[in-house]
Amino acid sequence: MTEDGRPILPRAFTAHPVAAFGTALTTLSAVLFVLLFIVESIGILENPYLGLLNFVLLPALFVLGLLLIPTGTWLARRRARQGKAPFAWPSLDLRDTRVRGWVLLLAIATVANTLLVTAAGVEAIHYMDSPVFCGQVCHTQMDPHYVQWQRGPAHTKVACAGCHIGTGAQGFVMAKTRGTAQLMQVITGKYPTPVPSPIEYRPPTIQTCGRCHGATRWTGERRRLFTDIGDDQANTPTQTLLTLLVGGTKPDGSASGFHWHASKDVEVDYVATDESRGKIPWVRVKNAKGEVKEFVVDGFDAAKAGGEHRRMDCVDCHNKVAHPFIASAERAVDRAFADGRLDASLPYLRREAVKLLKAEYPTHEQARTAIASALEKFYAGEGAVAGPVDAGRVKAASDLLVDLHGAYVFPAMKVTFGTYTSNAGHTDTDGCFRCHDDEHKAKDGSVIKQDCETCHREEEIAPATQ
Ligand code: HEC
Ligand code: HEC
Ligand code: HEC
Ligand code: HEC
Ligand code: HEC
Repeated sequence: MTEDGRPILPRAFTAHPVAAFGTALTTLSAVLFVLLFIVESIGILENPYLGLLNFVLLPALFVLGLLLIPTGTWLARRRARQGKAPFAWPSLDLRDTRVRGWVLLLAIATVANTLLVTAAGVEAIHYMDSPVFCGQVCHTQMDPHYVQWQRGPAHTKVACAGCHIGTGAQGFVMAKTRGTAQLMQVITGKYPTPVPSPIEYRPPTIQTCGRCHGATRWTGERRRLFTDIGDDQANTPTQTLLTLLVGGTKPDGSASGFHWHASKDVEVDYVATDESRGKIPWVRVKNAKGEVKEFVVDGFDAAKAGGEHRRMDCVDCHNKVAHPFIASAERAVDRAFADGRLDASLPYLRREAVKLLKAEYPTHEQARTAIASALEKFYAGEGAVAGPVDAGRVKAASDLLVDLHGAYVFPAMKVTFGTYTSNAGHTDTDGCFRCHDDEHKAKDGSVIKQDCETCHREEEIAPATQ
């Protein structure tokens, strides 16, 4: 009440405790919404889950409060109709020391509770943001990706949410609606095995990759050494040294090489006619000068055929970033030889290793015992061609194979070598060759080229590395 006896708030808001509570709730959530919105907009706090609070929880409380106000008014009217006296608020006389004590206690308890709840909320937000939450608690079916992500090498410091949840309300709502659907699948046990690729929704790469990698950076040429190991007794390596024309955008603004597709002024649109985006019969390019060119595979009619229409970005090539997996057991084994994790002096190790990794085991545990005993047996017999083999070296090899099995094969999710493959090449999947196949023709007769020199040069390997 003001001094002249008029109520500060219209009676509708305070006529009944329910209405008073509703008023408080609505006001508080509105104030918090504005505060959080400011905090998020100027970037003091940046967290995808802040959206949960700000765009889902607070609006829900706001609406709940709004609904409580008329409910309270209605309850008050009902009391009046039933001839009862209006709801009597207890009168608080702050001159009474006992009342003052209680009010003070209540005020302190409220502040303490608010602090506690806020701290718990912030903790919960951090936790939901953590890969442990994505990888283990919430999404059991994420185990394969979680394990891959942990092994790195490049993105172990980037949380799942950093690439899978966009910024702002849209990114948050998209991620959470899908996340909730996935959570339901986990609870009911009806989730797809393996998790399908590509994913239905991912945020624009400018919000994810773009935070750390400039699309415009000039990377130039990169040299990569590819090693294949033979199935012979000596596990003989064959090496290929390739120069990759990664390119990018030069300081003068001109773009070339692989990163030309994703450079600032270039737009590459395409139509994919299958779910895995493996078949791309139509491509349109708008280059930096604004010239447009369409490349079409013979027999494809863009007007009639359906298909998914997309604009190319980083992930059309880097689709396995952060959880790379590997295309085959051969590749996993060859890589382990190349960086010295597998002992090339064990006769026929490459052949045996690939065979053991390709066999099916119902669980990781069964794989461990089966691989260890098979390798032991092999080197006790046939494998001892060059004389007796040290048991410690055999044990080290089988440990490494078990480790590779644990990294790439997940029986419960039906994930194995080759389930998830990268598009940043053309040997494991068509990758670049989905478009670069000399079959996509423009009206002027030019094609999207497959000439090896478009993308790399094979180099002489210096004698020292052979
Ligand atoms: C550096 C960015 C990045 C990080 C970090 C990341 N992912 Fe991904 N993830 C991607 C991209 C890009 C795709 C492929 C999207 C596509 O092809 O549509 C993807 C796809 C997936 C898929 C779909 C299946 C597939 O392989 O295409 C799952 C499941 C997945 N990620 C889970 C996770 C989990 C769990 C984490 C954290 C442990 C994580 N991701 C961390 C970028 C990332
Ligand atoms: C939070 C920062 C961050 C984000 C987000 C991020 N990266 Fe990276 N990325 C890195 C770092 C750090 C490295 C390691 C750089 C190095 O080793 O020189 C890296 C390395 C890479 C590499 C080279 C190594 C490899 O794994 O092949 C590629 C390709 C790459 N990132 C692509 C992407 C793409 C595509 C996205 C978006 C889907 C993305 N990154 C998102 C920080 C990030
Ligand atoms: C046309 C396919 C393609 C597109 C589109 C593409 N990349 Fe790449 N990128 C590659 C290939 C292929 C490599 C070389 C991989 C290797 O070194 O083995 C590469 C290399 C890289 C590297 C490592 C460079 C280094 O220093 O060695 C990074 C980081 C990277 N890309 C980030 C990005 C980001 C971010 C985008 C989107 C803005 C993007 N790429 C778009 C194909 C592509
Ligand atoms: C969706 C189709 C598509 C995919 C997939 C694709 N490209 Fe391209 N690429 C094109 C088109 C279209 C051009 C431009 C052709 C022209 O204008 O003559 C092009 C041009 C290029 C160029 C020449 C750029 C320049 O002007 O310097 C390189 C290099 C290249 N691509 C490499 C790759 C690599 C490497 C991959 C796989 C990692 C790849 N592309 C995947 C469509 C694609
Ligand atoms: C459109 C670009 C493009 C064209 C055209 C192209 N390549 Fe490649 N090539 C790549 C990329 C990208 C990789 C993968 C690099 C990586 O894995 O980091 C690759 C990898 C390879 C590898 C290594 C394979 C392995 O072990 O993974 C060989 C060998 C190779 N290319 C040969 C060729 C030959 C021969 C031609 C000509 C018929 C050719 N390439 C044409 C882009 C291209």
